[in-house]
Amino acid sequence: MNKLRAIWLLLTFTIGLYATEFQPVYGSHGMVVTEDPYATEVGLEILKKGGNAIDAAVAVGFTLAVAFPTAGNIGGGGFMVIREHDGKVKTLDYRETAPAQATENCYLDANGQVIENASILGYKAAGVPGTVAGLEAAHKKYGKLPWKTLLAPAIKLAEEGIILSRHKTKSLNSHLDDFLKFPSTKKIFTKNGAPFEPFDRLKQPELAQTLRRIAKQGSRDFYHGETARLIARDMERNNGWITLKDLKKYQPVWRAPVHFTYRGYDLYSMPLPSSGGIVMAEILNTLEAFDLSAFKANSSDAMHLWIEAERQAYADRAVFMGDPAFVDVPVEKLISKSYAAFIRGQIDMFHARKSEDVAANEAWMKESFETTHFSIVDQWGNAVSNTYTLNSGYGSKAVVEGAGFLLNNEMDDFSIKPGVPNQYGLVGSYANKVEPGKRMLSSMTPTIVSHNDSLFMVVGAPGGSRIITAVTQVISAVIDHRYNMRTAIEKPRFHHQWKPDVVFLEEPGFTDDTIYRLQAKGHHIRYVKGLASVQGILLKNGLMQGWSDPRRAGVAKGY
Ligand code: DON
Repeated sequence: MNKLRAIWLLLTFTIGLYATEFQPVYGSHGMVVTEDPYATEVGLEILKKGGNAIDAAVAVGFTLAVAFPTAGNIGGGGFMVIREHDGKVKTLDYRETAPAQATENCYLDANGQVIENASILGYKAAGVPGTVAGLEAAHKKYGKLPWKTLLAPAIKLAEEGIILSRHKTKSLNSHLDDFLKFPSTKKIFTKNGAPFEPFDRLKQPELAQTLRRIAKQGSRDFYHGETARLIARDMERNNGWITLKDLKKYQPVWRAPVHFTYRGYDLYSMPLPSSGGIVMAEILNTLEAFDLSAFKANSSDAMHLWIEAERQAYADRAVFMGDPAFVDVPVEKLISKSYAAFIRGQIDMFHARKSEDVAANEAWMKESFETTHFSIVDQWGNAVSNTYTLNSGYGSKAVVEGAGFLLNNEMDDFSIKPGVPNQYGLVGSYANKVEPGKRMLSSMTPTIVSHNDSLFMVVGAPGGSRIITAVTQVISAVIDHRYNMRTAIEKPRFHHQWKPDVVFLEEPGFTDDTIYRLQAKGHHIRYVKGLASVQGILLKNGLMQGWSDPRRAGVAKGY
């Protein structure tokens, strides 16, 4: 009788748990999660046509360039983590590079002062774009469907136009003043100089032509052909730095992932020039020795441990990290379990440390808030985790005249001047100074997790410096607290990045009690609206769970 009662209790408890937990989107053959409904639809169609996850990623990448211009791009760059169905993981770095004319002091005036906005707005802010070369390299290595088939939906959307949702209308209109500074941008991203109305149709005929050329000639067009000439000509006219020579030199790079284990799970994430994988490894290695599942998720004691781990990892990011082709970074040490044990030894369970006591050097980590991530799994179990960006929303705000696409302002991810605080009060480091041909340090953290050699999770996010902590907290919520993909993504998040010495808390999301307890330990709190926007897929019980972060307007679809 007792046994029966125990089974009954267990059953009702399990059913109750599932019934009360909000459910993600389920699929059994494939799943596409992006920040844009058009792009999710295109990705799903490609999968249903027999394309693999990499085909779908290429099609989604080009579709976002049309339908989600704030971050989707061909004028920017990014990172892709790919897991083949047999378990091999590779990463592709298609980050922008500094043009040859960009040197250490290129954003300083004659008096050595930072020139306001020079690395943020306009042609000088742009790095040599990597997206087209990156998507082509992924397709050449893994693609099943023809390249042209993958560009067709984006070309059609650019020609026929996208309907502007309220969200997109608001986003575009909020940059109107900057768009008006560039005639080539005004022509496309304003309504003859005026704001858009919700549900207007946005057509991009010049972009359609550019995409047609890329469909025909591949990256040759972008780096050697007509598009390259249009970029170089526009640069020359506007005192930009990117030349034909810079474009011809651009190469994406295949890199081994940052690989580490967390409670028996294998995590594969982006190596330098993104700091994402290393910082994530440092945080999770530090936390691994604590039984987080014994804490209530987001309880003040658990958060305290997280915050102290984050503080150290971001201090190391700031001081040590930069493009590995230019600086020696002690990666193995940073991601080692023994270093994590050392970090744990410095943590005081009852008191927050001060960031200036954690590392002597100050550093710069300015990032802004528009990037985009997508996660895709196909019927064979291939997976793509891709984050790419123009950096700020709409990048440098400058559209290449005649080519119809926005240029990034990724140069602002470099440290413009060591020791001088930027607009967020952060200061710069030597490892990430501007040098010709160098890749600027990133926080993008596309990640794939496997368990017992099976695909387990595909996850990533936009959100600048907050990307790493957001992705890490979602992974922990699934592994430590057994949340499903949706509840893990929707769980309120917090963030500490060493400098400034504050804990960013999403509001609403935390109880007064938790906040008082954190303050009592000595943490300084700052409230923010949304910390990053995670796009995730979790594979469990033979099903795929997809969820697109409600902090933005994305969609998950499976079949
Ligand atoms: O590479 C980086 O870390 C930044 N350029 C990313 C910017 C970003 O995520 C903006 N996002 N929402």
